[in-house]
Amino acid sequence: MIITPQLTGNIARSCHPIGCRQALQKQIDYVKSQGALNAPKRVLILGASSGFGLAARVALTFAGGADTLGVSFERGPSQKGVGSAGWYNNCFFKQAAEKEGRKAINVIGDAFQPTLQTQVVEQIKQAFGQVDMVIYSLATGRRDIAATGESFRSVLKTTGEPVEGYTVNLETAALEWTKIPTATSEETTHTTKVMGGEGWQEWIDALLEADALAPGAQTLAFSYLGPDLSAPVYRFGTIGVAKEHLHATANHLNEQLNTAIGGSAYPVVAKALVTKASVFIPVMSVYLALLMKKMKAKGSHEGCIEQCYRLFASKGAGATAILDEDRQLRLDDWELDDALQAEIAQIYPTITPENFKQLTDFNGYRHDFMALNGFELEGVDYQAEVDMEAMAALKP
Ligand code: NAD
Ligand code: NA
Repeated sequence: MIITPQLTGNIARSCHPIGCRQALQKQIDYVKSQGALNAPKRVLILGASSGFGLAARVALTFAGGADTLGVSFERGPSQKGVGSAGWYNNCFFKQAAEKEGRKAINVIGDAFQPTLQTQVVEQIKQAFGQVDMVIYSLATGRRDIAATGESFRSVLKTTGEPVEGYTVNLETAALEWTKIPTATSEETTHTTKVMGGEGWQEWIDALLEADALAPGAQTLAFSYLGPDLSAPVYRFGTIGVAKEHLHATANHLNEQLNTAIGGSAYPVVAKALVTKASVFIPVMSVYLALLMKKMKAKGSHEGCIEQCYRLFASKGAGATAILDEDRQLRLDDWELDDALQAEIAQIYPTITPENFKQLTDFNGYRHDFMALNGFELEGVDYQAEVDMEAMAALKP
């Protein structure tokens, strides 16, 4: 079967397994080309199959020598399609890690379900005894509570006055004028249920209860704040309110872990990057494409893997984490550089559907999205048949 990209709006309807393997290999090669990390050796990653969770897993395994258990919600090949990129990331990650003598356990399922939590805790006890670090990196639009039958959906709206602006449509490679309405208070609450800290708290409670956290264990969750430019949609958006809850949870977990095991918890405020999740945030996409252009020009551009390597190599995560006065670990330091943001704030209002390909790094933005799904990678023959029988035999 020859696999070609299929886009509907900002959703990828196909992925290229061999390209996913190549994208993963690029991440592995990058961390191996850097120095070895002094980092935790037994790590649980919630949301391990793509984006920040996968990059953290690669850095810890291939530069830090860690054994990992990764939880994710992905689908394999079936009658319906080739499956999701994250599925192949899991399969190929496991192969590569085991080749180096590292344990790499994948658990596929809904991380919000207590039954899955119990299963994972048992596997940790069996395979690792305890873990030294827990990384919370879920990005999703939905959380179901089995006990009550409730189902929460997150929305990407503002909590202030309605906002208007351009958004990138990847399918048509054009800008579209979009209106972002004000969320109802119920929508904001529901978004917080999904993307706030409750799920993180449940995991740490379950792990502590089972004595599955080693003395001094740390937990971190990925977050975002962003500049004033995107504040109406991000910081003051429903997602920003959910992140505030996540940060409050970090403070609570920090006290809880400190008392129980001498451990700690903190949010990692990362930079804006192209991921499966972020391309949906209206207006952010134009900012991000502009940010990419300016950071590349300055030589400060990073992807998930560079961010995650820096997290452990120079921000002290897993050892003595370097936190700001609000107990946040900042990986957005280069994005929020004053001179850079001043330049972006000046250019942003001048962007139009006619000039955006010149003023922003639209090509780089689009390329990163394609690469997430295994397309446009150097060294992959896209004219060649993909052996789907071999792909179906892969195990996560
Ligand atoms: P992503 O979509 O690449 O990864 C999300 C992961 O969560 C995947 O592994 C997916 O399988 C998993 N997942 C989703 N629902 C699940 C469920 N119910 N059960 C188990 N696994 C589930 O997203 P990402 O961009 O890496 O986001 C991870 C975190 O990083 C989020 O908290 C996000 O807000 C944060 N972050 C993102 C950016 C950005 O620009 N992309 C910047 C800073 C922080
Ligand atoms: Na992730």
